[in-house]
Amino acid sequence: MFELLKSQPSDKIMELMALYSEDSRSDKLDLGVGVYKDANGVTPIMKAIKESERSLLENQISKSYVGLLGSLEFCKEINYLVLNDEIEEKRLAYAQTPGGTGAIHQLLLLLRSTGFSGAVWISDPTWPNHGAILKHLGLNIKKYSYFDEETCEVDFDKMQEDMKDVQNQDVVILHGCCHNPTGANLSLDQWRVLSEIFKEKGVLPLIDLAYQGFGDGLTEDTEGLRKMMTEVPEAMVAVSCSKNFGVYRDRVGVAIAMSENQNQKLVALDNLKSFNRLTFSFPPDHGAAVVNQILRDESLKKLWREELEQMRLHMLSLRKNLARSLASETNSDRFNFVERHRGMFSKLGLTESQVETLREENGIYMVSDSRINIAGLRHEIIGSLAQSIAKVI
Ligand code: LMR
Repeated sequence: MFELLKSQPSDKIMELMALYSEDSRSDKLDLGVGVYKDANGVTPIMKAIKESERSLLENQISKSYVGLLGSLEFCKEINYLVLNDEIEEKRLAYAQTPGGTGAIHQLLLLLRSTGFSGAVWISDPTWPNHGAILKHLGLNIKKYSYFDEETCEVDFDKMQEDMKDVQNQDVVILHGCCHNPTGANLSLDQWRVLSEIFKEKGVLPLIDLAYQGFGDGLTEDTEGLRKMMTEVPEAMVAVSCSKNFGVYRDRVGVAIAMSENQNQKLVALDNLKSFNRLTFSFPPDHGAAVVNQILRDESLKKLWREELEQMRLHMLSLRKNLARSLASETNSDRFNFVERHRGMFSKLGLTESQVETLREENGIYMVSDSRINIAGLRHEIIGSLAQSIAKVI
């Protein structure tokens, strides 16, 4: 039987992780996978997480199943964090999922179950797993322009032009904030324009929210998303806690489906429950329980918010330093966008062969499309990184 299997296409981010770990150079630099690192290059466990875990360890009295939708209490807390109570509860169906990827997957199952025959539009470029999951689920993929490779900013004119081809009942995947891979984000006005287009055309947005708190702040990062959700009749949000709680391996996420009314919400909920049962039965509890405790305890929540803000400010200072070093090494303003971009990533606009040279000659690992993980930088290596980049362009 297994001789019939074909190899699967690899994910370029995962491939890069493997290449990096095989490299024996001691001065290699990992700017690949999106994992936060502190000033010492360590991916820390947040203090709020540790404290919450300690209390969970002491107080948890059972490891029995929670429920197919996970913890309703946790989902509600996440809903509050993301949507700030701006959408009526009676329209919201939510399910706990294994990470943000799980949320995207379950929401696309929900979509497919409607008998959906339209297209799912993804930004060009986007996180490679968007296209891969859509393909895996047999959904029809279309791409909309998003990024101007010259200026390394959002090309909103082109994006709007492509929105003309989006049909009634199509789905458009947006990044809630901190666009992955580009780091170039929609302005509030652009969110407003898109909301109008979606409302007029009857388009359903699926918003991938993996970096809340990494851009302009916890509330600021969801302003566009919230604006859109209050305008359109239906929407879906895939929430990940991997980055903003630093619980990558614990797989903590929530799928949110906003329907027009309560009846539809209840059916959506029933479907999400069934998809969880069919895919993995119960979502993993530990990480969600830890996050839930933080969000329900004022002092833990305060600690978490402070830590998250520190991470955000650290990334901003790295951006500033890198943009300045690149300006001085290249004698140009070509890379000034690095300081304007927000979130964990920036796409530098280098060619694949330049990226390869940096990897082979300098042990600098970035994704082949020249996405760098800003949080993988340390201030002391930024000067030499800028020199190496200046050398290859
Ligand atoms: C990334 O884009 O590097 C992260 O979201 C990790 C992943 O799963 O790809």
